[in-house]
Amino acid sequence: MTVDADHINDIIDHVLYSKEDIQQMTKRLGHQLTKDYAGKDPLVVGVLKGAAFFMTDLVREMDVKMQNDFMDVSSYGDGFESTGKVKLIIDLQAEVKDRDVLLVEDIVDTGLTLKFMEDLISKRGAKSVKCCALLNKTARRINDVVVDYYGANVANEFVVGYGLDYLNEYRNIPYIGVVKPEVIKANA
Ligand code: IMP
Repeated sequence: MTVDADHINDIIDHVLYSKEDIQQMTKRLGHQLTKDYAGKDPLVVGVLKGAAFFMTDLVREMDVKMQNDFMDVSSYGDGFESTGKVKLIIDLQAEVKDRDVLLVEDIVDTGLTLKFMEDLISKRGAKSVKCCALLNKTARRINDVVVDYYGANVANEFVVGYGLDYLNEYRNIPYIGVVKPEVIKANA
């Protein structure tokens, strides 16, 4: 076993979604979004950094004319508990006025980040703002936000891989794994 494999085994308890599971979810979502956004010329916005991985796979499953942009917002700092305050780090370059905007998120947890982005984009005059998240973690939801499209519901566990990080690492793992509770406790 390599040193890097040890490094992953040290923190991951079990695999939650394999590469193939993720591919299937992405295809299903892409198919649905192709139908729902046909003829709408949407602006599809990935939320950095986590959703960059999912976004690039998702839009390649969407057979519609679109533009793409990214924005970076942060509510987590470097830890795994939301700070409760959302900061805009990198703004969009695209104009959103009168556009159908689809926000692409890796995971919606408390909903604070999504609420912040939806409010911002609505205030700028978007025609519609919807969200497609790979994972939907509803247990700690604070805001009454709607995740219009999602790949799967997850329990109140901390997951990593396929863009999702733990202390800004492990984003490049090609599957989604649950972080060992003892690792979380040790760093809490
Ligand atoms: P929210 O504002 O609480 O909904 O948090 C959204 C952001 O928190 C996501 O975009 C992720 O970056 C991060 N996040 C929430 N849960 C997890 C998790 O289980 N693993 C990794 N990141 C997470």
